[in-house]
Amino acid sequence: MDYKVPFVGYIAQYRNLGEELSVAIEEALSKGDLILRQQVQDFEDSMASFLGVKYAVGVSSGTDALYLSLQAAGLEREDEVITVAHNFVASIAAIVHCGATPILIDVSDDMNMDIGQIEKAISPKTRAIMPVHLNGRLCDMEKLMEIADRYNLVVIEDAAQALGATYNGKKGGSFGVAGCFSFYPAKLLGAAGDAGLVCTNDEGIANNIRLLRDHGRKSKDIIACYGFTNRLDNLQAAILNVKLKYIPQWIQRRQEIADLYYQGLYNIPDVKLPPVSDDHFFNIYQNYVLRVSERDNLAVYLKKRGIETIISNPIPVHHQQALRLSHFKLPYTEQLAKQVISIPLIPEMENSQVEYVIHAVRDFYVK
Ligand SMILES: Cc1ncc(COP(=O)(O)O)c(C=O)c1O
Repeated sequence: MDYKVPFVGYIAQYRNLGEELSVAIEEALSKGDLILRQQVQDFEDSMASFLGVKYAVGVSSGTDALYLSLQAAGLEREDEVITVAHNFVASIAAIVHCGATPILIDVSDDMNMDIGQIEKAISPKTRAIMPVHLNGRLCDMEKLMEIADRYNLVVIEDAAQALGATYNGKKGGSFGVAGCFSFYPAKLLGAAGDAGLVCTNDEGIANNIRLLRDHGRKSKDIIACYGFTNRLDNLQAAILNVKLKYIPQWIQRRQEIADLYYQGLYNIPDVKLPPVSDDHFFNIYQNYVLRVSERDNLAVYLKKRGIETIISNPIPVHHQQALRLSHFKLPYTEQLAKQVISIPLIPEMENSQVEYVIHAVRDFYVK
């Protein structure tokens, strides 16, 4: 279906950047730069400087970034990792693939981990906390890090949706021992396929991830450990290098659109808007998520008006039968699963499209 307001901007972005991307791809191909070449190094350097960390290591996806970080941090079978269920399944999957046990706690009003529940979930087996900075807003990292330090727990941040978001001026991903990013095409910084990255200030973690992503190859002939084929593709790095330059501008545009949505929608009684940026939190609005009671009807209505929306996790992860996590009781997460709907927010949107969405949502309530 051709939407008047599509949810993703792949085609519009290609229209704007196609030539620059072609040059970068052509350059890599013509030099035979395909695996771990200069383009990956350049991207890692730029990301480390953007995030304000010492090291950044490109990997094959956000899920691999999480899995390799847990491995690099020495997580073992029997260890417990505290995280949330109001999220894409990837973070919990990474924990399970390590042989560790996810301990799921509820989220609070900002849709992020309810920090007040962490201490109750800590047991003698707890080794790590994995906060998820959902929708482009960070968790309250000051309080979370204070608890982690007090209990000597490792913090691995799932920053897949929060590139450029800050808490008290510090970038998401740079608080814990490792910060994990996804460059899935729909993300703020999207590859032309799958890609991810781990950032860290810990040299040991960075070295471990470099080894793990490339079958433990320390040098041409020396294998230092069992590893995987989890490298960042060189061509994806070439593409990401082009797009990374636009990130500040795209973040600013996202902020402008979020402001327009706020002004246009804040006074509809049934619509709860996402939290806005303030002195502490700078949000990058990876997703603009409304909470409404008539969610499914609103989705159908907006579709009829040519507006594409997304309903993330209508069945919360802990209610997915096959995953055997249903012993967790997470009332707020369960409530959100019935209420959330994401409306389009991409830098390529015209103001007229933003206005169109605002009018359509308002019309739904005066019908
Ligand atoms: C919060 C979150 N964590 C992890 C992932 C997994 O990233 P990927 O799809 O690159 O494996 C995603 C995204 O897609 C995500 O949104």
